[in-house]
Amino acid sequence: MKTKIGWIGLGRMGILMSARLQAGGYPLDVYNRTKGKGNNLSALGATIASSPAELLDKTDVLIIMVSDDNATREIFNGAAGLLSSNATAKIIINMSTVSPGISKEMAECCRRQGNRYLDAPVSGSVKQAESGELVVMVGGDEDVFLQVKPVLDQLSKLTIRMGSSGAGNSAKLAVNTLLGIMSQGLSEVVLFANDNGIKTNDLLDVIHNSAMGNVYMKIKGDAILQNNFDAAFALKHIAKDLRLAKQSGLKSPLGEMAYQTFQVAEAEFGEEDIIAVIKKLGTKE
Ligand SMILES: NC(=O)c1ccc[n+]([C@@H]2O[C@H](COP(=O)([O-])OP(=O)(O)OC[C@H]3O[C@@H](n4cnc5c(N)ncnc54)[C@H](OP(=O)(O)O)[C@@H]3O)[C@@H](O)[C@H]2O)c1
Repeated sequence: MKTKIGWIGLGRMGILMSARLQAGGYPLDVYNRTKGKGNNLSALGATIASSPAELLDKTDVLIIMVSDDNATREIFNGAAGLLSSNATAKIIINMSTVSPGISKEMAECCRRQGNRYLDAPVSGSVKQAESGELVVMVGGDEDVFLQVKPVLDQLSKLTIRMGSSGAGNSAKLAVNTLLGIMSQGLSEVVLFANDNGIKTNDLLDVIHNSAMGNVYMKIKGDAILQNNFDAAFALKHIAKDLRLAKQSGLKSPLGEMAYQTFQVAEAEFGEEDIIAVIKKLGTKE
């Protein structure tokens, strides 16, 4: 019998990742704050819990994939939250992109409760979530990591332990700082080239065939060409990640620039994709 999985958070990423575990034969129970998002999973046999605490009682390994620190706090400390449960010997894995600080705090709360906690944020977006090709960065005790690695491997092409509690989050903030810088960089050179009479598709052809060509540039270059800014990774989430990186001591000039850019862009384009930053940068003020 495979490990019973509880899943909290059925947003863009969570719905695809939990479906992948279900397709891999893991018995699945789910909880989401807004009701109705788990209907596809329940049609395939998942049960829907009415609270995080109820879900924890029913499962061996409970995975969280929600927006941010506030959402994580709500899941642990809110009404019928995880910390109100008497269940013990459970493993709770937080795959959301959150601060190293909240992971350390929740790991300690779980330890006192008789449970174990890992931070395990992911790199990759909806495409990789669907195909099980995410990269998972884990913080926490090695024995717990080894116990749940087969579950995380079902979601990833690489599952790697970075160190103790919070280390997964620190690694993720470093990676996403680069993502913010690259997104701003791509946007700025497209705008610069356009201002000098170069067509976007010609410039992208050059970039994709140069040493700088990579999967990210291809996906976001296509989005710019198609004028498609529907969120795969919402701009509000990179604004949040750069805020967390700054709170964690980020001091780089490029990181600071990306931080400023995305904080300003968030008000107008927060619900659109990260690469909608090109619209903000292209606004002549
Ligand atoms: N999308 C990507 O490409 C991507 C890639 C890597 C990492 N991430 C990270 O993965 C996490 C999830 O991203 P996503 O794109 O799936 O986000 P999303 O589509 O915005 O979904 C957010 C989820 O969090 C829940 N939530 C938000 N606030 C809550 C609260 N106060 N209490 C309880 N639940 C709450 C939402 O519930 P409701 O349905 O009730 O709103 C929803 O299930 C984020 O930390 C993000 O930075 C995303």
